[in-house]
Amino acid sequence: MNIHLKSADDIAKMRVAGRLAADVLEMIGPHVQPGISTGELDRICHQYIVEEQAAIPAPLNYNGFPKSICTSVNHVICHGIPSDGKILKSGDIVNIDITVIKDGFHGDTSKMFCVGEVADHARRLIRVTQECLYRAIGIVKPGITLGDIGHVIQQHGEGHNYSIVREYCGHGIGRIFHEDPQVLHWGSPGTGTPVQEGMTFTIEPMLNAGTRYTKLSRQDGWTVTTKDRRLSAQWEHTLAVTASGCEVLTLRSDESM
Ligand code: MF3
Ligand code: CO
Ligand code: CO
Repeated sequence: MNIHLKSADDIAKMRVAGRLAADVLEMIGPHVQPGISTGELDRICHQYIVEEQAAIPAPLNYNGFPKSICTSVNHVICHGIPSDGKILKSGDIVNIDITVIKDGFHGDTSKMFCVGEVADHARRLIRVTQECLYRAIGIVKPGITLGDIGHVIQQHGEGHNYSIVREYCGHGIGRIFHEDPQVLHWGSPGTGTPVQEGMTFTIEPMLNAGTRYTKLSRQDGWTVTTKDRRLSAQWEHTLAVTASGCEVLTLRSDESM
């Protein structure tokens, strides 16, 4: 394992990248309405990132990913590819995942959006998944372990009878999009890598309404769905570990911590 601890200067740059990624989620919110395609959402975000932010959309061409954002609708867990043929309709839930590169550093964040009128059971899945992220963020400080983070998420999610996706995880982030360590969303207290000041990583729990099992599309090589085709939700923030806790680098104005 090769964890890149960040200097104060590095974290200042990551704060900028994180702010920009959060701004994209705030900008796109009003566009997420019945009738819009995920391809159109991608074009709006791409244009905003490139033209207004003078930043780079990290997903575009990353390991061959063909678009600038990920849009994961309903039973899609993550890495959904935007397309003009995928039209959002009332009742859909969609995760939009934004990663930008600014001044060499990445900011990575995602949130769930409700399209039109969404059923209570879906809203509850979305809420509990966000609570998992917030509870995990709430314990991050030097001296805890990554297993502590996973445990908090697993306890809260499974405590509400949801399952936790295991094949995909949070990750170290900096000049490199996905670097060490892997941040699992399940685990046991006191196990795994100790958290240290200067670490920057994401936490991005994915919770399923049904079983935890996933399926990777053989058609496009990217889209990850629930095996049982029941709903999935995800929320993501990028954090920097400070002396006494952590700073959420991708905080939006609708959030407080
Ligand atoms: N943003 C995703 C993450 O949270 C990764 C997307 S990789 C892509 O780590 F290639 F699918 F864009
Ligand atoms: Co991420
Ligand atoms: Co992401």
